[in-house]
Amino acid sequence: MCGIFGSIMKKGTAAPVIHAGLKRLEYRGYDSVGQATIDDGKLFIKKDAGKIDDVHRLLDLDAMPGMIGIGHTRWATHGAPYKVNAHPHTDCAEEVAVVHNGIIESFAELKAELEAHGHVFKSKTDTEVVPHLVEEGLKNGLSLAEAVREAAKRLDGSYALAVVSTREPDKIVCARKESPLVVGINEGEVYCASDIPAFLPLTKKALIIEDGELVVLNGGSSYEIRKLSDWSVVPREPEVVDWNPEMAEKQGYPHFMLKEIYEQADTLRNTLRLQNQFLDLMTEFLDRAGEVFLVACGTSYHACLAASYMFSKLAFLATHPIIASEFIEQHGRSVNIDSTILFVSQSGETADTLAALEHARLRAATVLGLTNVIASTLTRLARVYVCQQSGPAIGVAATKTFTSQLSVLAQLALRLAKKRGKVSHVEIEFLEKKLEHIPEFAETILKTQSDKITGLAQKYSKSQCFFYLGRGISSATASEGRLKLMEISYVPSIAYPAGESKHGPISLIEPGFPVVFICPKDETHRAVVSNIMEMKARGASIIVVCEEGDDEIKRYADDFIEVPKGIPEILSPILYVIPMQLFAYYMALERGLNPDMPRNLAKSVTVK
Ligand code: BG6
Repeated sequence: MCGIFGSIMKKGTAAPVIHAGLKRLEYRGYDSVGQATIDDGKLFIKKDAGKIDDVHRLLDLDAMPGMIGIGHTRWATHGAPYKVNAHPHTDCAEEVAVVHNGIIESFAELKAELEAHGHVFKSKTDTEVVPHLVEEGLKNGLSLAEAVREAAKRLDGSYALAVVSTREPDKIVCARKESPLVVGINEGEVYCASDIPAFLPLTKKALIIEDGELVVLNGGSSYEIRKLSDWSVVPREPEVVDWNPEMAEKQGYPHFMLKEIYEQADTLRNTLRLQNQFLDLMTEFLDRAGEVFLVACGTSYHACLAASYMFSKLAFLATHPIIASEFIEQHGRSVNIDSTILFVSQSGETADTLAALEHARLRAATVLGLTNVIASTLTRLARVYVCQQSGPAIGVAATKTFTSQLSVLAQLALRLAKKRGKVSHVEIEFLEKKLEHIPEFAETILKTQSDKITGLAQKYSKSQCFFYLGRGISSATASEGRLKLMEISYVPSIAYPAGESKHGPISLIEPGFPVVFICPKDETHRAVVSNIMEMKARGASIIVVCEEGDDEIKRYADDFIEVPKGIPEILSPILYVIPMQLFAYYMALERGLNPDMPRNLAKSVTVK
């Protein structure tokens, strides 16, 4: 996954604006960066491998002439992160420059064909076929927009493209298929970007570009959208985004991750204000489904895992939580018109999730979506979707979007329980009341436990491996706690349903081996105590996340983190995960790592 940005200025030069836009997209990929501008009919390119700040120190990305330009921050998929593979890529005549986010699956055969026509390639990337295809089109007398269209029609795979050419030096031409692309409109200026936060400090007027569309951006913020298929003009007005730039900035926190952890009380409140009609409609589809799958990747998959307990315990609905990249292999043949699949994806753009979705759609299954990004691909392909309103999620390791997903899924399970009358109204009202108080409980945990957790991170920062154990729905919380630690502090960690830990993993236990237990005061409490004793008997260091005042468990623990009293089991993952997010964050700091830029990861992976 990469970030693309482009701008046509009213006055001044484009380069500093592009540079700043790419900085706001850096969480999308940060192994190389580059910009292209046009001035006085000439193309200027600066690019290199490395993070934006390092490349800027070397090349000064602001010092490029011209009021028009495009830029790119990369997360390598094809071609290692070397300068030659950094974007923009150009044609043989150095008249066309292209930046691209996505994967061009048909690039090898296109490259061979173009080389046979005498084109000379410089990089190992898939992207470089685009400027050469555009060059062909221009040679055949097409306009830049037509040449980009012809090129796009040859591309299999996913792309968000931005193209400039010295032949038409006042235009940026963009095209989109699967990868995200938005346009920002500002008096006399226009921007294109991979997502809205990139131009939010400049304008709140966002124009959504749909799949299979091309947009021509001209000076003076005029634009024209056309369908790639039949070249028809698509009239569309920009929408005003109710996000303010500050929401995209760190608001004084040292890292986006910590800012987003502390945003959870607000983001959880947002989930309690979602539009009923979509929640009810989704409940309707779940109620009449023949079979229900909950499909996602990474943290979103852990939300699905927890939801499977919620749906079964509250609505007596059996659901199958499935890791998206395994869905087709595991259920591809059996999924059918009676299947209903709820796809959960914060970004709404994760390729593995969209691939499973596409397969399900082709087999006439009912596709539902839960996402955080309006206008994302998931929202366009789902029969019904719910947008969880967590605001821009920039920290690569998902935090606030996880707890928001859980809150929405719990609300769906409660609505289904009510509809099916499987649980007494008293219990439903009790749970709904508790859900309303979840935001305050989150605030309490952040206020009362943060210092303690910082101390625990200091104590365990040298540990080589961790166990995360929980029973029932807490096994999902344990899995998410483990993922957070691995994602940002690189400590190998194992999560297991606590009952299963004695069937193998316990062999790793030796004196001082840290074992984290997630143990709310629910039906699993007693069994968890015996699991703690098993680990303790072998010298493990026991860290428990337990209910405030749970002296029975605290007696057996070396360290404990307390969560407010009276959290129902079904809602417990929403709160019991927060100490785990903070623990992972402070462990990363203790180990001298940047929690916002975990190696090898990206916010959402748009390649399969
Ligand atoms: C990974 C992110 O790339 O994708 C995780 O690093 C995330 O944080 C996972 O949970 C799934 O992303 P999404 O957007 O589909 O929820």
